[in-house]
Amino acid sequence: MQRQRIRMVAGNWKMNTDYEQGRDLAQEVVRKLQPSDVHVVMAPPFTHLKNVGNITNGISNVSIAAQNCHEQTAGAYTGEISIAMLQSVGVKYVILGHSERRQYFGESDELIGKKVKAVLAGGMVPIFCCGEPLEVREAGNHEAYVADQLKNSLFDLSEEDFKKIILAYEPIWAIGTGKTASPEQAQEMHKAIRTQVQKKYGEDTSMRQVILYGGSCKPGNAKELFAQADVDGGLIGGASLKSDDFIAIVESFPED
Ligand code: 13P
Repeated sequence: MQRQRIRMVAGNWKMNTDYEQGRDLAQEVVRKLQPSDVHVVMAPPFTHLKNVGNITNGISNVSIAAQNCHEQTAGAYTGEISIAMLQSVGVKYVILGHSERRQYFGESDELIGKKVKAVLAGGMVPIFCCGEPLEVREAGNHEAYVADQLKNSLFDLSEEDFKKIILAYEPIWAIGTGKTASPEQAQEMHKAIRTQVQKKYGEDTSMRQVILYGGSCKPGNAKELFAQADVDGGLIGGASLKSDDFIAIVESFPED
């Protein structure tokens, strides 16, 4: 049976690696990667994008992503990075709405929605992150919380635009904590997210929606997570900084 959705593993390097370490990491990943149809994405710091792009150039299933961008086209925004700058170095994906951006840089649902539109207008693909903090999970309100994030930032998009987006469910309590969501918790939330998409954009769009899991995903738990029906891959932080771990995660999908 033809698979309805692509499978993807994206490495979010966050604020790690200097230029040479980034070069070495990207080269190792490329060297160790076995041919497959898994979409492999690396999101290094801005300063490394061009070089990592050169290293991955010509490998059809490997792309580079930015970790953020500014919502305005250009101008007096000291320290910011525009869509055109990212386009000019071959960026394909932009991670948006990461909980660290929300938490440490005060990014609101509304701002993230603007960035999503800017990225789409620039012909790139947003990887939109959502996910609840621990207290929301403990109060049992996680599904409603994530539904609100989707509604507030994304659900004013046309169906045509929405279809281009990758979603990533990243429960905040699992990020960098070594405490991963259980496969059952991940599946439950991915299904809930797919149901929200189905209610807004219909069955066909919801069944085609790629939803990644992020939060302490490692070689030791990726297989179980990726075996879940509604988990289409991972957004990997810490483990994406070690080429062996990252490659092992890329190889963790079930056999067809
Ligand atoms: P960790 O894999 O380090 O928990 O980070 C997940 C993440 O935030 C990816 O964007």
